[in-house]
Amino acid sequence: MRTDTSQTIYRNDYTPPSYLVETVELGFDLDPARTIVANRMTMRRNPGSKRAGIELHGENIELVALRMNGKLLGKRDYRIDGRLLRIPNTPDDVTLEIETLTAPEKNTTLSGLYVSNGNFFTQCEAEGFRSITFFPDRPDVMAKFTVMLRADKEKYPVLLSNGNLVEEGELGDGRHFALWEDPFKKPSYLFALVAARLVCQEERFRLKDGRDALLQVWVEEGNLDKTDYAMQSLKNSIRWDEERFGLELDLDRFMIVAVGDFNMGAMENKGLNIFNTKFVLANPRVATDVDYAGIEAVVGHEYFHNWTGNRVTCRDWFQLSLKEGLTVFRDQEFSADMIGTDSGRAVTRIDQVRTLRQAQFPEDAGPMAHPVRPDSFVEINNFYTVTVYEKGAEVVRMIQTLVGREGFRKGMDLYFERHDGQAVTCDDFRAAMADANGRDLNQFERWYSQAGTPVVGAVGRYDAEAKTFDLTLSQSCPPTPGQTDKLPFHIPVAVGLLGADGNDMQLGQGGLKGATAVLELTEQSQTFSFTGVLEAPTPSMLRDFSAPVVLEYAYTDDELLHLFSHDSDPVNRWEAGQRLAMARLSRLAGALANGGKLDLDDTFIDAMRKILVDATLDPAFREQALLLPSETMIAEKMGVVNPQAIHAARQFVRACIGACLRAELTSQYHANLTPGQYSPDALSAGRRGLKNLALSYLAAAPDADGVNLAQAQFDGADNMTDRVAALVALIQARADAAPAALHDFYQDFKNEALVIDKWFSMQAAAPDTDVKAVRALMQHSAFNLKNPNRARSLVFSFCGGNPAQFHAIDGSGYAFWAEQVIALDAINPQVASRLARSMDRWRRYAPALQLNMKKALQQVASLKKLSNDVREVVSKALA
Ligand code: PHE
Ligand code: ZN
Repeated sequence: MRTDTSQTIYRNDYTPPSYLVETVELGFDLDPARTIVANRMTMRRNPGSKRAGIELHGENIELVALRMNGKLLGKRDYRIDGRLLRIPNTPDDVTLEIETLTAPEKNTTLSGLYVSNGNFFTQCEAEGFRSITFFPDRPDVMAKFTVMLRADKEKYPVLLSNGNLVEEGELGDGRHFALWEDPFKKPSYLFALVAARLVCQEERFRLKDGRDALLQVWVEEGNLDKTDYAMQSLKNSIRWDEERFGLELDLDRFMIVAVGDFNMGAMENKGLNIFNTKFVLANPRVATDVDYAGIEAVVGHEYFHNWTGNRVTCRDWFQLSLKEGLTVFRDQEFSADMIGTDSGRAVTRIDQVRTLRQAQFPEDAGPMAHPVRPDSFVEINNFYTVTVYEKGAEVVRMIQTLVGREGFRKGMDLYFERHDGQAVTCDDFRAAMADANGRDLNQFERWYSQAGTPVVGAVGRYDAEAKTFDLTLSQSCPPTPGQTDKLPFHIPVAVGLLGADGNDMQLGQGGLKGATAVLELTEQSQTFSFTGVLEAPTPSMLRDFSAPVVLEYAYTDDELLHLFSHDSDPVNRWEAGQRLAMARLSRLAGALANGGKLDLDDTFIDAMRKILVDATLDPAFREQALLLPSETMIAEKMGVVNPQAIHAARQFVRACIGACLRAELTSQYHANLTPGQYSPDALSAGRRGLKNLALSYLAAAPDADGVNLAQAQFDGADNMTDRVAALVALIQARADAAPAALHDFYQDFKNEALVIDKWFSMQAAAPDTDVKAVRALMQHSAFNLKNPNRARSLVFSFCGGNPAQFHAIDGSGYAFWAEQVIALDAINPQVASRLARSMDRWRRYAPALQLNMKKALQQVASLKKLSNDVREVVSKALA
């Protein structure tokens, strides 16, 4: 018998299931304290497998009765150990009838069957189904599900599950039932049920093939005024997948249900997507432009999973990026296409690059670094990461860059032709892309198997005589846990050459035509020659961020200024500005850490001014170009991280911009007002974004004008974007008026949970909020550690979003962190484990801080009663 529950699972240990499940009939008698689950399934020995008994997963459920082929089994007929139920010596064809008991109201993990605000919900990915019933809970076992729900009609008038509603009716004694049937085979992680008091916005929507589908968005009664945008986004998603990939909705009904207690963003259960309220509910009064964009992206993401995830699913959880990386790529393309303009597309791309640098590069450089397709894990829930999702999407994007947009579509078509209805691997996806395009993607496989962010070094040499420009690219990749030596990656490097006039040169070299060439770096070092180059060029490399790498090139300030003013590639134009800013920020942070004095050059300010007032540029792009790298991004560039110095350096630059560009910022503020009815469209959102960035710089300047402007905006705001921006400006400027504004804000929105989350997180990230202040906020009657959104809004926002205070010299932040990880772990290990990750980079801090961080990590690690989730994270951090 196995007693060690924290075992490492290896990808190479995969074996096919010994039994397959053909049909499952589930019956639920729903009761918060005592839910009875009846499971009748037909199983058949997997032809390929050797003689073995049946093995079912099952956790936190009580077995009441077990029948095999009609015969009641006794204690001697099976073995059960709290994780597995084993029946030895089973015939080839088996019908199992299993009755189990659970107590959903006691389930605080939000995995499996649970209660939120009096309603029943399920969450089964990755391994939650096993706490609903005994089952081979692995994605390569796909079965047809029929589900009977029974519950009190008064309390739970709405009964939903996957697929089609077959029948519903009364049961007497106040109870009613609903019978659902999913026509598609699916793995257990895609099962869902909802039994709740909810209302819906619904609509019939004509699909491309002429069928009408019923679309529903289910919410609590008071939220019916916040469903329009989710519904619109769903319709846009359906249209987009028809047009871009020829993929249609395969069900007559598609439902989105919002729940206030949810560990993640949303879940793609077949036909019954369950969403965190954060990614459904919006109206101008309560949601910001960023919230609207999040809803569009997540609604799209979950809908797109219907093909990339559900119709074709993962063979095992190591293949998670097969569905997640691809589906993130699809939702990114969807959001970009919804804006429609090249410049809007570039702004979404810049946002993606920012996320990578802010979160994925640090992950790739830390103790939890893992390949896009991991080789091992202790707890799969720890691998729903920015690496699997966002870097996974970059890997898919690189394939599109290599085979072209049409080639990518051909690859997708072949992927579905080959694998519809199957559970497959990342290699299968790559093979479909390679075969459909006659391309060799063997070396490209290393993007799936090697962790770490590659560094690409570039050196240029112009020969004025020969009129050639030689670009030598070399690559290396730092070691990561368990992987010391890396082999060269297949890296697409998109390159353009700018002339002194700022225009792109036409590239004539070796079949390369046009202004941008995609060079394929496959060796450790390679030289690419451009001929017919009439003057010394300024190279613009990694255009559109063509690969998730760090590019090192010894740019001079003049070259960067040239690119910042002229690059035809907006992402690299932005990138030049980021390089200019980063050079100054890290120099200033270094100076501050060593007691040096602060100054900022006019060159930088002038470059910012030029972009700010350039009316030919989209406001959204100007906002991106003027936004400084975050404190986390600066920290990643420092040898030894000093969070207080980084914060002060960034504040100094912000104050300089506010003071030096006061006139221009003020006029841009007024030029970008968006009078009239609020609309979340990209152009309006971009104007608000630029205007509010201008406001934040003005408020950072020493004089009172900016603060007064913020106060006026706060008082007059007619939408949440402007209201929050003004409040943040007041808080960040430590304005005298900030406390009163916070008070009013709370009074106005105390019944809007998602707005109160904002109220907590703005305070958690405030410059004066120390541990003591966070503890005081935790005492507020609206705080609740059990609700993940609320925990994230305060505890996570402080530990991850207020580095200068979290890393207080006395170690109080770390002690607080340990305390909260431990408290959360007893409630919800998945959420606790996310918080545990805020110490990943502890070895990069000054020795005094390191010591306290290590102590806090050890304190958590020394606990006997700790989830696998948290234990894996802290022990890898300490390793
Ligand atoms: N599969 C979900 C998504 O990416 C994420 C998720 C994972 C949700 C695990 C809940 C639990 O859309
Ligand atoms: Zn997903």
